[in-house]
Amino acid sequence: MELEKIIPEADDFLPLLGTDHVEIIVGNAKQAAYYYMSAWGFQPLAYKGLENGSKESVSYAIRQDKITLVLTSPLEPGGDLNRHINEHGDGVKNVALWVDDATKSWEETTKRGAKSAFEPKTLQDTDGKVVLSGIHTYGETIHIFVERKDYNGTFMPGYTAWDPGYKPEPVGLKYIDHMVGNVGWGEMNTWCKFYAEVMGFAQIISFDDKDISTEYTALMSKVMSNGNGRIKFPINEPAEGRKKSQIEEYIDYYKGAGVQHLAVATDNIIETVTQLKDRGVDFLYVPENYYDDVIDRVGEIDEDLEPLKKLGILIDRDDEGYLLQLFTKPVLDRPTMFFEIIQRKGAQSFGKGNFKALFEAIEREQENRGTL
Ligand code: FE2
Repeated sequence: MELEKIIPEADDFLPLLGTDHVEIIVGNAKQAAYYYMSAWGFQPLAYKGLENGSKESVSYAIRQDKITLVLTSPLEPGGDLNRHINEHGDGVKNVALWVDDATKSWEETTKRGAKSAFEPKTLQDTDGKVVLSGIHTYGETIHIFVERKDYNGTFMPGYTAWDPGYKPEPVGLKYIDHMVGNVGWGEMNTWCKFYAEVMGFAQIISFDDKDISTEYTALMSKVMSNGNGRIKFPINEPAEGRKKSQIEEYIDYYKGAGVQHLAVATDNIIETVTQLKDRGVDFLYVPENYYDDVIDRVGEIDEDLEPLKKLGILIDRDDEGYLLQLFTKPVLDRPTMFFEIIQRKGAQSFGKGNFKALFEAIEREQENRGTL
């Protein structure tokens, strides 16, 4: 692993305030919303569908602290949403970024070579206005710039507040720590260059196939960050190994590049993971012998080892502190998108020390799926 230059904030031509929301196109938004509310503790926020004038698609916005997910399904046959589901299965379509000026964000990025997804447009209702614009990134994924400084409504014009009365307890998820994209063979550098040149990001870490390999499979990864560090996008590509890597498996099933995982932060990973497991979320299995020498490797930690071991939570340390992390199995039927739960105790890295244990765990899953 090499640590790369830190970002010069002075020429940040694309100031990003944070992740606004992540929109997942799904086959059945009503049931997906129920899953993320029941299992993950998201709270109902806003809705658009037949009842409030959306005739072709339905969307449920749900929220937990700073994380907003939008689940969208088509209401009619044909059209782009059905094509997206047919091709990719359920998957992330829009990674929306919160900005002060969506028009300028679009101008600055398209001027630098971004392919426009849609020009700046203003949505208005009695609560004010939201300006949106969009650019393409890897695969069919789109970055939407969301300007909401003149808006006081629940979520966005077109949506009405949604309060079904069903509100399972949150599980302590706070914000999106990072969001990872899988791209095809030899495409990692192309997309890192895109984030650097078009969006003004800097590369903060790179891992080559020597860092991330097991006996069977390998991958490469670079982490791109915006100027204030609020948005971090690691980009993975497959590397040659004796068997098929998880990145290739993803690309095979997603039919191209796309969002691989959302890492969501908590202040208490033991509590959060206990809740998630109780509610039926499946995590990768970590062999118990992982814990035999983990304290020798990472040094003293605040937590008792026993609950971490019981829940299969992984630990890693860097120069600045340590982190606790754990990965779910894919949350969709195709072996594509999953979640990472992460608690940072100073560490700013991504758990390199766990890669081997983690990828061996993923290989066991691939073996069961017959895709290794
Ligand atoms: Fe991650």
